[in-house]
Amino acid sequence: MTATLAFDIYGTLIDTQGVVEELSTMVGEAAAQVSRSWRDKQLEYAFRRGLMGRYQPFSDCTSQALDYALALHQCSVTARQRQQLLDRYRRLPAFSDAASALQQLGHAGHRLWAFSNGQAAAVETLLASAGVLDTFDGIVSVDEIGRFKPDPAVYAHFLKRTAATAESTWLVSSNPFDVLGARSVGWQAAWVQRSAAVPFDDWEWSPTVTVERLDQLVTALPG
Ligand code: LAC
Repeated sequence: MTATLAFDIYGTLIDTQGVVEELSTMVGEAAAQVSRSWRDKQLEYAFRRGLMGRYQPFSDCTSQALDYALALHQCSVTARQRQQLLDRYRRLPAFSDAASALQQLGHAGHRLWAFSNGQAAAVETLLASAGVLDTFDGIVSVDEIGRFKPDPAVYAHFLKRTAATAESTWLVSSNPFDVLGARSVGWQAAWVQRSAAVPFDDWEWSPTVTVERLDQLVTALPG
């Protein structure tokens, strides 16, 4: 049985820590910490904007979170360096297992969609620069309805856009909050547990399957 697969982008296919090298030329040893705070704050800002009903594109959450992360770790960069970091974020690298896994899943007959908090144009640029855009049937962005994951409305919007049913749709994500959002509205979900040190939140839903790498998906999903 083939499925509709909704791939989370940032952190699942695309490595948000891919800025560390560039960042380290600007802030030295604080780079890894700044990068982690940047990502955490970016998500927190999306959650907060969602709760407040004050939607702004995800790229705004990204740039405001960068400023916060730099201030938190008492780092300063020039306006030009700041722009350089935001440009790098638009062309982050894919994880090394992404391209082959996507190809295998496409060959297995699954429908592959990108499903992201990012705006469609930003996601398209990311996937194209990572060389995996062609493996997708299309992109669904939360920007189309001005809400962020894990608002149930964004999962409903995905089903509408792709003419899929909840039961036959799998979210593929390394972000536990996204997996919980999908499971709570009746989707299947594969959690990509990239680090054994990261536990899954102990709520009332669990991932349907858990994999350590994307290339384990082709055997983990019902074929
Ligand atoms: C995304 C964020 C949640 O790509 O990582 O939707």
